[in-house]
Amino acid sequence: MLVVVHEDYGAMSKKGAEIIASRIRRKPNLVLGLATGSTPVGLYKEIIRLHKSEGLDFSKVITFNLDEYIGIPPEHDQSYHYFMRENLFKDININPSNVHVPHAMFGDLNISSFETDPKIVQFCEWYENEIKKYGGIDIQVLGIGGNGHIAFNEPGSSLGSRTRIKTLTEKTVKDNSRFFKSVKEVPRYAITMGVGTIMEARELLLLANGDGKADAVKAAVEGPITAMCPASALQLHQKAIILTDKKAAAKLSAEFVTYG
Ligand code: PGA
Repeated sequence: MLVVVHEDYGAMSKKGAEIIASRIRRKPNLVLGLATGSTPVGLYKEIIRLHKSEGLDFSKVITFNLDEYIGIPPEHDQSYHYFMRENLFKDININPSNVHVPHAMFGDLNISSFETDPKIVQFCEWYENEIKKYGGIDIQVLGIGGNGHIAFNEPGSSLGSRTRIKTLTEKTVKDNSRFFKSVKEVPRYAITMGVGTIMEARELLLLANGDGKADAVKAAVEGPITAMCPASALQLHQKAIILTDKKAAAKLSAEFVTYG
């Protein structure tokens, strides 16, 4: 695992975009895993700049997003479909038919049996097969939750888990309530790639910034590999890069980091 600490959010985002751009230049039909949340916004801005000023070409790039809230329509301004359109897709030359964001409108769900709801199970299997059909994800962008989650794999998620429905923890609901009018509006369920799905990507690129991520980054990098910190699974990955700003790296032991 390579941990590279940057002066600030801007430098971290620029480095992340450079890494992605280099992979697209090497393989124009790159299968790119994408993440939502506030962390990758700067990375996406920099990618858009590289597209507009240096002609970084997305015409053959295939994308797969990590997750989506259940029950929020794609046109809702807090859906991850909307986030990706607004923060990236509308400003690059991606072919809409190459974009995959999990579907999350399944009508009324029975909370006591949703994990076996055939509509959801079928969709999740389809999503996994679609990733395989394109040869697997070449590089997956990740954020990290303050509780160590990756995508919506909350603490306790099996490190072998696949795409499925997950219940969000109270911490995640609270963390994400800043994007909604009130905490009551935050969805409680999501479709998410599993930790096992994520670990099959050939390369992982996790970004973390701000004080609020320092404990989670320390647990992921230096703690035991445990389902209680799903990001700690990255320690088992052959090619995982963690980019941080100084604040998110503040609790790491100096010997584990390099400086970008
Ligand atoms: P954030 O979320 O980028 O909005 O901090 C990251 C995550 O929860 O994975």
